[in-house]
Amino acid sequence: MQPKPDFLPVKYSQTILTELMIPSYANFGGKIHGGVLLSLMDKVAYVCAAKHAGNYCVTASIDGVDFLAPVEVGEMVSLKASVVYVGRTSLVVGIRVESENIKTREIKHTNTSYFTMVAKDETGKPVEVPGLTLETREQVRRFIEARRRKDAKAEYKQNCAKIKVPVVDERMLETLKGERCRYEKKSSIIL
Ligand SMILES: CC(C)(COP(=O)(O)OP(=O)(O)OC[C@H]1O[C@@H](n2cnc3c(N)ncnc32)[C@H](O)[C@@H]1OP(=O)(O)O)[C@@H](O)C(=O)NCCC(=O)NCCS
Repeated sequence: MQPKPDFLPVKYSQTILTELMIPSYANFGGKIHGGVLLSLMDKVAYVCAAKHAGNYCVTASIDGVDFLAPVEVGEMVSLKASVVYVGRTSLVVGIRVESENIKTREIKHTNTSYFTMVAKDETGKPVEVPGLTLETREQVRRFIEARRRKDAKAEYKQNCAKIKVPVVDERMLETLKGERCRYEKKSSIIL
């Protein structure tokens, strides 16, 4: 077995996954389900992360995914994945998804997202990943942006913790004014 490298360049683990969009991936309107794209994104993130880590990885979190344009049956979807940031046992994989109309060759950017993956050893414990060798200013920019997103996410989590409503009292019901809902009290509801 080869010794684990201390650092690896971004290009070592860059991965492209291309898949034809078949009818079973689509809804009744002929558009591809968002979940199909998410599944492909998870797959390419895994390959890219495991290649850099030299270990199996799990998906720890996914940054907000906005679908910018619909993907149609018959289009060729390409997912381009690169490690943009590494921590100690975690790494962030950036994924750009593009969809190509085979006949017109028109390419549209459908979404970009960031998957945080954690490398695990044989016992399931998080294990250190190699550092990242940045070879271009673009890679430096992505690394710094990923670190900033990490800090912003930590702040967002703290703010979300404050959102919890411990008890629904009259004051809370007042805050529903102007919302498109109505409160009709029932004695009990079985879901
Ligand atoms: C994610 C997971 C590995 C974290 O385990 P843990 O024991 O809490 O590990 P630690 O606290 O030591 O954190 C390990 C690393 O993960 C990162 N991490 C943990 N939770 C995270 C989250 N929600 N988002 C982003 N990063 C996270 C930590 O920042 C740390 O990174 P670092 O080593 O680079 O600093 C663990 O919760 C897990 O295995 N979850 C299930 C993952 C899975 O099954 N995914 C598929 C879903 S179907």
